[in-house]
Amino acid sequence: MAKRAESASAAGRTAERAANGALRVLVIHGANLNLLGEREPEIYGRTRLTDIDRALIELGRELGLTVEAFQSNSESAIVERIHEARGQSVDIVLINPGSYTHTSVAIRDALLAIKIPVVEIHLSNVYRREPFRHHSTIADIAAGRVMGFGVESYLLALRAVRGVLKAARSDRR
Ligand code: DQA
Repeated sequence: MAKRAESASAAGRTAERAANGALRVLVIHGANLNLLGEREPEIYGRTRLTDIDRALIELGRELGLTVEAFQSNSESAIVERIHEARGQSVDIVLINPGSYTHTSVAIRDALLAIKIPVVEIHLSNVYRREPFRHHSTIADIAAGRVMGFGVESYLLALRAVRGVLKAARSDRR
């Protein structure tokens, strides 16, 4: 009963923020993504991470979303940043864990612990690549996955965010 009341008020807060255009999106980029633009451009393109973040913040503004981006090469720093999201009214996490996608139980567990919807993003279509990239530790806990469209993967995911939050709200009911 108390749990239901708690969920209802969380849903209420999300709805209120949506109405006020202040939904908060945390974007997390994992290992080696700081090198975008120079790293294997034939796979990842020539756009730098700072430009991706700028485009996300601008698109977020158009959509009425507050976007904050974080990058780290360290698995533990990513886990810590996910934990911090708990106290920051983050409504959704968009994450490209880089190679941690294929290995990190710690990132999966952190995402499960915070109970905030997650969208998994990749620049490349991992299924066209080596078999070890076909496994993701977060695929089954993500609300959705966007991959293979380069920088557009992030922008498409951001556009989808409102729909994901609506679905999360009705799941909680
Ligand atoms: C990636 C795919 C991963 O396999 C790889 O390790 C990356 C980038 C992508 O965005 O396509 O670092 O997550």
